[in-house]
Amino acid sequence: MAKTSVTFTCSACGATHKKWAGKCDACDAWNTISEEVALQDPRSAAGGRAISLSDLTTTDAPLTRRGSGIEELNRVLGGGLVPASAILVGGDPGIGKSTLLLQAAADFARGGAEVMYITGEEAAAQVRMRAARLGISDAPLQLAAETNLRDIIATLDKTRPDLAVIDSIQTMWSDQIGAAPGSVSQVRAAAHDLTSLAKRRGISVILVGHVTKDGQIAGPRVVEHMVDTVLYFEGERGHQFRILRAVKNRFGPADEIGVFEMTGQGLEEVTNPSALFLSDREVRTPGSVVFAGIEGTRPVLVEIQALVAQSPLATPRRSVVGWDGARLAMILAVLEARCGIAFAGFDVYLNVAGGLRIGEPAADLAVAAALISARQDIALPPDAAVFGEISLSGGLRPVAQADARAREARKLGFAQAYAPEGLKSLEDTGLRIHRSDTLKGFIDSVFGDIEA
Ligand code: TYD
Ligand code: MG
Repeated sequence: MAKTSVTFTCSACGATHKKWAGKCDACDAWNTISEEVALQDPRSAAGGRAISLSDLTTTDAPLTRRGSGIEELNRVLGGGLVPASAILVGGDPGIGKSTLLLQAAADFARGGAEVMYITGEEAAAQVRMRAARLGISDAPLQLAAETNLRDIIATLDKTRPDLAVIDSIQTMWSDQIGAAPGSVSQVRAAAHDLTSLAKRRGISVILVGHVTKDGQIAGPRVVEHMVDTVLYFEGERGHQFRILRAVKNRFGPADEIGVFEMTGQGLEEVTNPSALFLSDREVRTPGSVVFAGIEGTRPVLVEIQALVAQSPLATPRRSVVGWDGARLAMILAVLEARCGIAFAGFDVYLNVAGGLRIGEPAADLAVAAALISARQDIALPPDAAVFGEISLSGGLRPVAQADARAREARKLGFAQAYAPEGLKSLEDTGLRIHRSDTLKGFIDSVFGDIEA
């Protein structure tokens, strides 16, 4: 009998250690390491099967994507579902993963695919009720409420559907592993067995994974390395917008987003996200600036809101939602060092409206504009969009896809844009372009003289 070895695994990053420790050396997380009994894979003894590359026919790995009727989902997948691919859909509990995947599963089924939706979270009757609410009860979809991994694999091996949805990976358990469902060993084993099934049988597998902050449920981080595509479903509680974001995609561009709105009848696609993100905008409010951004391959206009208030604190507050806190600190430092505008005695709050998270440095100028606008209580022209990257020297740098940004702004009724110098192509976009080559130059032209 094979010796069972014990290792210690970090639930945050998946690193393995020889002994237990309070802190993971690999990712610096605390209290994430737990004991794990190594997986004994009976198949590994049989050895692998090698195949010559030239023997691979296209039927072995056809990259014909299967599109769903949900265009926002197709976009994030890179055009559609790739056969035999494994996809992880992660997100906070309650954000709408099950809703999205039930709708998607029904859609693929209606399009002629054989689809099996396996839930370990709810009873079949509950899923049926949800399907009724979503108006998809008539979809030819196979439904199973099951958590035993062995039974699931056996069923899928036999029925070989085109697509299997596993909701969620944390509820699946293998009887070969003596650990609780949701533990790292169980999650890892389930993900391993299901992704190898996907490759072996040509089944597309979508795994749902809950992301939680406490250590109780193993984060799906360990699963991210095993799958072809990782999508995150995000949004803010209290907001109806939901964003499906590709953070890893072997078959398409990462960073692509799909935008949805949660309604009483499930998720609806938002085909014009800019219009939605700007719908609640209060024009002529100081501190509000429209940023012309790019998400994936698509231009998206969003409102950036800043609030600057006198602070009683020795160390004033810096609070950011939807943007990088370190980047805000940098902008504040540049404003102080290069433009002589200090925020030392002020609390600063920055918010990207609508629950979108922006990663682009191209938002720098819009953020700086919002900060100054809030501090000086002067609103920007309501028909102006802003984009541009700020360097540490206080210079403005040109950004990629300036034309697409300007066109989107024009389409939404904007008449002018503030942009960095050096973007020649913007002439025929129909916008009046105000160019500056430094942050100081931009501030002088928009806000005039500012007392420090
Ligand atoms: P759910 O898909 O169960 O989330 P997850 O699988 O990520 O945990 O979504 C749960 C929330 O969505 C719940 O708060 C109710 C809401 N919801 C709607 O607003 N409309 C709907 O049509 C459905 C099905 C759910
Ligand atoms: Mg769910």
